[in-house]
Amino acid sequence: MAAAVILEKDRTIDLRRKHIGPSCKIFFSHDPIKIVRAKGQYMHDETGRRYLDCINNVAHVGHCHPDVVQAGARQMAQLNTNSRFLHDNLVLYAQRLQATLPEKLSVCYFVNSGSEANDLALRLAWQYRGHKDIITLENAYHGHLSSLIDISPYKFHQLSDAERNPFVHLAPSPDVYRGKYRADHADPATAYADEVKDIIEKVHKKGGKIAAFIAESLQSCGGQVIPPLGYFQQVAKHVRQAGGLIIADEVQVGFGRVGTHFWAFQLQGDDFVPDIVTMGKPIGNGHPMSCVVTTKEVAEAFTTSGMEYFNTFGGNPVSCAIGLAVLDVIEKEDLQGNALRVGRYLINLLQQQKEKHPLIGDIRGLGLFVGVELVRDRLKLTPATAEAQEVIYKLKEDYILLSADGPHRNVLKIKPPLCFTTADADLVVEKMDHILTELEAALGLKLPTAVNTENEWRKDSMSSCRPMRTDTGITVA
Ligand SMILES: Cc1ncc(COP(=O)(O)O)c(C=O)c1O
Repeated sequence: MAAAVILEKDRTIDLRRKHIGPSCKIFFSHDPIKIVRAKGQYMHDETGRRYLDCINNVAHVGHCHPDVVQAGARQMAQLNTNSRFLHDNLVLYAQRLQATLPEKLSVCYFVNSGSEANDLALRLAWQYRGHKDIITLENAYHGHLSSLIDISPYKFHQLSDAERNPFVHLAPSPDVYRGKYRADHADPATAYADEVKDIIEKVHKKGGKIAAFIAESLQSCGGQVIPPLGYFQQVAKHVRQAGGLIIADEVQVGFGRVGTHFWAFQLQGDDFVPDIVTMGKPIGNGHPMSCVVTTKEVAEAFTTSGMEYFNTFGGNPVSCAIGLAVLDVIEKEDLQGNALRVGRYLINLLQQQKEKHPLIGDIRGLGLFVGVELVRDRLKLTPATAEAQEVIYKLKEDYILLSADGPHRNVLKIKPPLCFTTADADLVVEKMDHILTELEAALGLKLPTAVNTENEWRKDSMSSCRPMRTDTGITVA
């Protein structure tokens, strides 16, 4: 009966301090939240208080969705074993997942976490032509394994040059708000892609060879960055010319979150297809499963090492039953459509807030993947890091869970379960409005009259990014 025992919160905190590694951080460490149950987009603490969850992109179709729970429980009661035995769940899930992807992405490897997926993606790329060098984006996070810390500047920025992997090369994040080439650049997609081309040339000069370029289709931990349209096509051209592969990390942004498409890489257009796609978080709605999908050619090259790929839990019948149920719910409840509709509604509300709050520098997003970048000065883009933390803490007092990320931790990230409603959006924005009003009053911040001119300048200068953004419902900041 131990599982039913609810400890006093202080006791839970004591035991956690004693037995859980101190580097495993907790949200709101000075007053952590103890969640005991959850449903849909809501989480409940031990006192029965209900929190609106705007953080959990893992509980994609809603916390504890009954169809997903039942699918897992039913299969658990029947059989769970490894993929060395034939089982229909494995092949049916692979077939179903493939149907959401471009045809050439047809071979699946099932693993258990986003990190495992990205680690395997690197192995596939290294084996493909025997090349070694990897290009990754500034501020990227791809997982916690050693191989992934190496390609995750979000983590390795704390390391000295000597500790960094010399085969890993950093390209600028294609961020048109704060990055190297901004909205006023005539062609930011080409400018950012040319940076990748320059890296390739430098690697070649030193005798290296590019194995892969890895990037999230939209950077999440990196600050909810939406790359300009055409960026990935151009990067792919340069990387493939060098014999490398393109790895699209869809661990955070896949499975319909962006609203218009099932996969975020598809936002770039039909003429962009990665060589490897990695998936995680939402795939099992909280059940630990993930997947790497690649082409037949890449998969065949992987076999030439002669090494078997075995993964004890990857692709087990329970995980696959859950994966199938998640896909069913997305379809049955039109959650991709909901992400599009509610996401548009939310972004529109936030745009209205930007008109009145000087702290809001940029609103960007697609579907239910939305970022609100807070700045102290809209012209200098001074990051409002402390203010972003304040907003999060105050929202928690209103029972709304949100987080901040990006290199300056000043981007509020909104990535709720896809069953989020327009009423939820209203509530979050109403509370945010109130908190920002108080903060700005305390700081003496006012909208400068120059802001209108600045907005006009931004509207004019966004034309190179506009096709993607208007198509997909984003309102240009
Ligand atoms: C983009 C991205 N890739 C990979 C990972 C690693 O996934 P996991 O924590 O399941 O290992 C994460 C985790 O946050 C992520 O955000």
